[in-house]
Amino acid sequence: MNYSEKVMDHFINPRNVGEIEDADGIGEVGNAKCGDIMKMYLKIEGETITDCKFKTFGCGAAVATSSMATEMIKGKSIGDALQLTNSAVMEALDGLPPVKVHCSVLAEQAVKAALTDYYTKQCIDPEPIVGKVPEMEEE
Ligand code: FES
Repeated sequence: MNYSEKVMDHFINPRNVGEIEDADGIGEVGNAKCGDIMKMYLKIEGETITDCKFKTFGCGAAVATSSMATEMIKGKSIGDALQLTNSAVMEALDGLPPVKVHCSVLAEQAVKAALTDYYTKQCIDPEPIVGKVPEMEEE
């Protein structure tokens, strides 16, 4: 399987790995295809995502896409983070092998799950803003 240099770089040296203790939003999602899990932590001030970290039991492609996704939303507005798609993340990584595309969905969904948690904690209905985030699926 051929991975781009960017994928390898983010896999070997992932950015923003870890937890945020006083996170404003935490999202956990599972990948229905492989059973892997992703947890995303967001620190939010006003409308800005000031910090974000992730932990995953996913494969190398999941690590690389999450690493890139955190870089793409850090310092951005919530609105920008909601626009983040797995295809944009894959593009930023110069592509992924087709069998690994499902891994990149994990990062996008984890960001949305964390924003859902953020709004829920503030007693704001997240669904009109974030949309539906698939529940952790079991095969
Ligand atoms: Fe599970 Fe990639 S194989 S996230």
